[in-house]
Amino acid sequence: MSDQRGITRRTFITGAFALIAGMGLAACASGGATQTSAASSAAGSDSSQSQSNDSGSTSATPSTSGSHRILVAYYSAQGHTQRVAERIAQDLGADTFQITPAQPYSDEDLNFNNDQSRVVREYQDTSLRDIPLSTTTPDNWADYDVVFVGYPIWWMDYAWPVTHFASDNDFSGKTVIPFCTSMSSSIGSSAKNLAAVAGTGDWQDGQRFGENAGDDEVDNWVSGLGL
Ligand SMILES: Cc1cc2nc3c(=O)[nH]c(=O)nc-3n(C[C@H](O)[C@H](O)[C@H](O)COP(=O)(O)O)c2cc1C
Repeated sequence: MSDQRGITRRTFITGAFALIAGMGLAACASGGATQTSAASSAAGSDSSQSQSNDSGSTSATPSTSGSHRILVAYYSAQGHTQRVAERIAQDLGADTFQITPAQPYSDEDLNFNNDQSRVVREYQDTSLRDIPLSTTTPDNWADYDVVFVGYPIWWMDYAWPVTHFASDNDFSGKTVIPFCTSMSSSIGSSAKNLAAVAGTGDWQDGQRFGENAGDDEVDNWVSGLGL
């Protein structure tokens, strides 16, 4: 059975995931960290055109949604999580912050069919999973009281490039709402694992979306959050 990209459906098994038949990864590496304010988006800027300083983040005043100041932070290696993140931000008039490894993952880096690829080596050797970020703390971090944290599922857990975002920021006083995308795995313990890495903040139950989740699905989840 194939999905919309013509990729043969994979089966995921405990601790690793196996390929049933050949597939190609349509990965795209991302550039420097980007922070976009809802105000600049509304004014016609997209994420590639957001006002950025040398660290790749903006100095814009945080956008306000109702009584909350909301940030949607996300890591996305191949664009699926980014699409969900941008929809959440659009729904809530929130700002976005793209978590970006200092050394972004290339298509070949993400090729889990290659035993020597970067992700496979990092998966096999946890000491290699210490991934510095181009920017760790979003501008105006202290001003946000609600922070969404989005990530792809890698090997049944959160993708490790998001680790430093969780461990190196102080989430005290913030409501944290995790979400993830995956091909077929559930969110499992990934959000709880990330909350443990963070150690601060009021982490809510997470939400998993499929790779090609529809806007309606995202909208329904967001509207049920009562923000
Ligand atoms: C290294 C790697 C490991 C993955 N592991 C899993 C997995 O265990 N379970 C799963 O359902 N999908 C897995 N996937 C698929 C991704 O979770 C899925 O494509 C996700 O939507 C990618 O998000 P992104 O496009 O924002 O990077 C994996 C993908 C990669 C690149």
